[in-house]
Amino acid sequence: MAGWGVFFLGLLNYKTGKIVIAENRKIGILFRLYQLAVLGYIIGWVFVVRKGYQEREEAIQTSVITKLKGVALTNSSETGLHLWSAEDYVIPPNGEQVFFIVTNFIETPNQRLGFCAESFKVPNGRCQSDDDCVEGEAVIAGHGIKTGLCINSTGTCQIHAWCPVEHSKRPTEPLLSEAENFTIYIKNFIRFPKFEFSKSNVLETPDDSYLKRCSYDKEEHLYCPIFRLGDLVSWTGNDFQEMAVQGGSVGILIEWDCDLDKAYSRCNPEYSFTRLDRGLNNSVTSGYNFRYARYFKDENGTFRTLYKVYGIRFDIMINGQAGKFNIVPTIIAIGSGIALLGAGAFACDVILLYMMNTSSFYRDKKFEIINLKKEQNKHKEGKTGHRERRHKKPAADKEAGNSTNKPEETEALAESQLPVDQRGPTVPRNAGQRYSGNLSNQGTGPRHHITFSAQN
Ligand SMILES: *[C@@H]1O[C@H](CO)[C@@H](O)[C@H](O)[C@H]1NC(C)=O
Repeated sequence: MAGWGVFFLGLLNYKTGKIVIAENRKIGILFRLYQLAVLGYIIGWVFVVRKGYQEREEAIQTSVITKLKGVALTNSSETGLHLWSAEDYVIPPNGEQVFFIVTNFIETPNQRLGFCAESFKVPNGRCQSDDDCVEGEAVIAGHGIKTGLCINSTGTCQIHAWCPVEHSKRPTEPLLSEAENFTIYIKNFIRFPKFEFSKSNVLETPDDSYLKRCSYDKEEHLYCPIFRLGDLVSWTGNDFQEMAVQGGSVGILIEWDCDLDKAYSRCNPEYSFTRLDRGLNNSVTSGYNFRYARYFKDENGTFRTLYKVYGIRFDIMINGQAGKFNIVPTIIAIGSGIALLGAGAFACDVILLYMMNTSSFYRDKKFEIINLKKEQNKHKEGKTGHRERRHKKPAADKEAGNSTNKPEETEALAESQLPVDQRGPTVPRNAGQRYSGNLSNQGTGPRHHITFSAQN
């Protein structure tokens, strides 16, 4: 019963740590410098530079629509004049995020199914005699099926194919050099779902002729996403006419880096342009081309025009992130800063207590070593050997403390039942109840209890 009473009274105590102040300049300065550094890191880097108080959103939702304008007239010796409009030179024509623009081509008109000689450019099609051309075998990387004949005039097998096979050379000047003046309109819508924020890169204006007149300019017309192809390529550090001969690949990156704590108008797109097939100067791998055919019908059957087209492929990539103030990341940032300060205190403790000449002094002052066994042994010794002395002790205390109360009278008020043994290290006060509980159960001899009030 008494034990429970003490326990419940003990609950009403407030326990607080004891602070040891070490008057040591070096450690003091070190600790202050560390605190300054941490403070600088938290404020400068975490809050100002990295905006640690913001909730981030990197999953941008985006849509891109492209449209090209411009026409070009070509004049080839084989087919004569040909007018190229956007429907012809943009592949695919439906305004995608990745598209191809024809700048140069090889045309092989009027191909019909029949028998003709394989091109000499195909190694597997070459032959010395009919034995080299096995009937029914396809020419590896060639144009048709071998018929078993070797044609001496060309030195190649006869094949069953769309004839005649392509034989022209790539023009050294781009046939659609006027593509330099084509314009591309890139419409881009973005959305940050977490913040319910959406925007587009086109000026929101009631003036519907604006987009017909304007052209992109970083300062003047940021919200006019109409680019001249020649400009696009020159911003990548390349010459359009040079690139148009063999083709290539250009990346258009639109970046949206938005601080949504600021005004709507401060969230702007940023364009950058790079050539993606760079570093391949005049090697066989540089450039971009592919073939396609257009089919026609007349009274003699089907015939086709084969095109091998060279051109520039554009890849539009959208990147974006947004940040907005939120209390949770703010608290986390502050909390981690405080934790860092604590790490500094730990490091200074280690230096102070273990790594200095005077460390043993600070250790003695800071640590209180207790041992339950030793404490009990002393207690027993005290009971048998030093009984007299122990009996005197409370009296001495009484005089020193200038107290008129007898210790026994204050027993009922005891908050902490500590055995009075002032010689050795004492049981820590903050764990008083538990230790005294153990001890008092074992103690059979006269026990002496004091209160803090009686002692002080
Ligand atoms: C593009 O247009 C400009 C001005 O209209 C003209 O001077 C230039 O020759 C054109 N470029 C090509 C390759 O046609």
